[in-house]
Amino acid sequence: MDFETIIEPFKIKSVESLPITTSDQRKEYLEREYWNVFGLKSQEVTIDLLTDSGTGSMSSEQWAAIMRGDEAYAGSHSWQRFHEVVSELTGYKHIIPTHQGRASEKILATITLKEGDIIPSNSHFDTTRANFEFANAIPVDLLCEEGLDLLSPSPFKGNIDLEKLEELLKSEDSDKVPFVLMTITNNTGGGQPVSMENLKKVRELCTKYNKMFLLDACRFAENAWFVSQREEKYKNVEIREITKEAFRLADGCTISLKKDGFGNIGGILAFNDDELAEAARNLLILTEGFPTYGGLAGRDLDALAQGLKEITDRNYLEYRARSISYLAEKAKNAGIPIVQPAGGHALYIDAKNFVPDIPSHQYPGHSVACEIYLIGGVRAVELGTLAFGVAGKNGQPDTPATHELVRLAAPRRTYTQSHFDYVGEVLEKLSDTKDKLKGYEILEQPKQLRHFTAKLKPIS
Ligand SMILES: Cc1ncc(COP(=O)(O)O)c(C=O)c1O
Repeated sequence: MDFETIIEPFKIKSVESLPITTSDQRKEYLEREYWNVFGLKSQEVTIDLLTDSGTGSMSSEQWAAIMRGDEAYAGSHSWQRFHEVVSELTGYKHIIPTHQGRASEKILATITLKEGDIIPSNSHFDTTRANFEFANAIPVDLLCEEGLDLLSPSPFKGNIDLEKLEELLKSEDSDKVPFVLMTITNNTGGGQPVSMENLKKVRELCTKYNKMFLLDACRFAENAWFVSQREEKYKNVEIREITKEAFRLADGCTISLKKDGFGNIGGILAFNDDELAEAARNLLILTEGFPTYGGLAGRDLDALAQGLKEITDRNYLEYRARSISYLAEKAKNAGIPIVQPAGGHALYIDAKNFVPDIPSHQYPGHSVACEIYLIGGVRAVELGTLAFGVAGKNGQPDTPATHELVRLAAPRRTYTQSHFDYVGEVLEKLSDTKDKLKGYEILEQPKQLRHFTAKLKPIS
């Protein structure tokens, strides 16, 4: 169609009302939760941009598929349908269903890692990093130069630095590398895509140095969309074909199907290697369930099988990318520095730049996320020193994260343009109040993934 307006390519069949709150209520809610947005009840949030994970809307075909769900313990028809779709899409020999991405990561870490192992990646996501560190291994991020520069408009800022990767693979530490993991798109690095060229070069290096190559492929379709828009060779290639090619460059993957599986729950661990698959299945039975359901109900498998067919629709992917870039334009117009170009699933505010007077150890991103909620009931999340920094010991300040970002992630097929207009207005107000923002201090924190449950308070 030859129109300027890119419409939501769906109509609404079932609705859920949005809570509208007052600013006094929002202050009370956040104070009650020790200023941690993860503690808020969903009835207290008007627009929830905390995550794009598991929060999207299912299609009528997916709801119909749910009714087809076969709950047989072993060998259910739902499993067969799921297996067929995932095999066609990924091409891997062994498909292992899990309840979500981190369950796949935990199994992967347990069967492949030993103390001191090094896992290179473009960027590890927080749960991946935590699972690898829990196995006493060392995840290393080798993001390309352009990816480190938040404001550079390069097309593939999720790429790995191939020179640094080769340096590691030919160094004396090479024996400690069990596999290379590429995250597509790169969530931690701002939802930025990885080019097919970069993936092919990683494949070549892994073959040359005899290393297994795995994908963390939660957003495989969004990555393929960017490839189709930005990589000349793929301009006329079907999204599904790009996706299939990407999977076939690697030897296996972990996927959280709560993203591009269009599912509320679900994950995959997949390999070509028989021995690894056997080890994974043995552990799966201990921790998740029988290998033909792995922690999921038959109805979940059916909804996911349908979702995995729908996700590579060009019209949907165009609308999705446009929603994020639309919000990015609004943020830019409000004078808010953002990671550029706009990512695939989220808008990322560069809080270090936005509120430079708040030092990293007072969590500028957290301060911005709290203010966004206080202004308009929009929930975003800090991805900076609170999430990725290392807690200081004996009263010392934290070791800061590389960036201080605030992520506004868009759930799939959930919000319409007027919702994003509203968020745009909230961002305008944020810009007006930025000089009043204060830093935060931590009152209590757990050892791992502290941003989920830490208790904080504003520094007066
Ligand atoms: C890149 C990436 N890997 C892994 C995960 C973990 O998946 P899950 O939340 O299903 O455990 C996420 C979740 O956000 C992610 O974005």
